Amino acid sequence: MQVCETIAEVREVVRELRNSGPVALVPTMGYFHEGHLTLMREAHRRFPVVVVSVFVNPLQFGPTEDLKTYPRDLERDLRLARGTGAAAVFVPSENEMYPEQFCTFVDLERLSGVLCGRTRPGHFRGVATMVTKLFNIVRPDAAFFGQKDAQQLQVVRRLVRDLNLNLEIVAVPTVREADGLAMSSRNAYLDPRERRAATVLYRSLQSAREAVVSGRRDLAAVQERLAAGIRAEPLAELEYAEILALPGLTPPGDDDSELLLAVAARFGRARLIDNVVCTVEDRHRRTS
Ligand code: PAJ
Repeated sequence: MQVCETIAEVREVVRELRNSGPVALVPTMGYFHEGHLTLMREAHRRFPVVVVSVFVNPLQFGPTEDLKTYPRDLERDLRLARGTGAAAVFVPSENEMYPEQFCTFVDLERLSGVLCGRTRPGHFRGVATMVTKLFNIVRPDAAFFGQKDAQQLQVVRRLVRDLNLNLEIVAVPTVREADGLAMSSRNAYLDPRERRAATVLYRSLQSAREAVVSGRRDLAAVQERLAAGIRAEPLAELEYAEILALPGLTPPGDDDSELLLAVAARFGRARLIDNVVCTVEDRHRRTS
């Protein structure tokens, strides 16, 4: 496995790797857990060449967020990436990605103003700019993203279409701990009590999903119960609990065939997000 620190280096390495077949990219911010590794294994199952990027992107963190304390362990990450069969890891410095004079950004007029975009202004501009740069640097045939970050996935899909980028975006289901908590690098911030409390997110999402699937049409009421379930946990500070239509993240109407149930809450200094998707087939299957 080759470790590249510069754009020139990774371009050269990928140029040679391309002789072995199509290339898949897995963008990450490191501190790997089973979610990241599943993305890499899934990429490797479908593509002969997998390139992983590890970069804690300052542009997607707000001024009061956890950029400085974001967990990092590059040696371990490299070992784990190698274990999944990755061919190369791109680990650029901040200056390599954002040299002085950098002033061009990718900004989506829709999709980035709801859910996490409301509480994290500029976040998706940071993500969209970084992902576009990585796509241009590596020029992969496909890129793999986790359903865990559902809004990010929609943002990436949209920008790929809008800017006519020539690659496939593959979504991978959320990988969870045995008790349902979605894996996240930020789970490392949780103390044991907060860790136990954090299971309320998936539990509440599952019962909301159950309500929608079993035919509840008053989505506003389901959304209110979802929020109430999380508010009932004393260690949770609810940021949002919303039901929106996919792919546009718009208020759901009767014709929408895919719904996103998404939540964000703080447990101590950890801000955690989770979501489930509910398709119209799920709803019909139950009602027919
Ligand atoms: P990061 O949070 O490191 O996540 C990297 C990838 O792993 C994302 O596609 C994310 O959705 C996926 N992922 C995280 N937890 C997961 C889980 N429990 N199950 C499945 N997939 C999971 O997302 C980012 O980094 C950044 O925003 C990035 C796209 C790299 C741009 O900077």
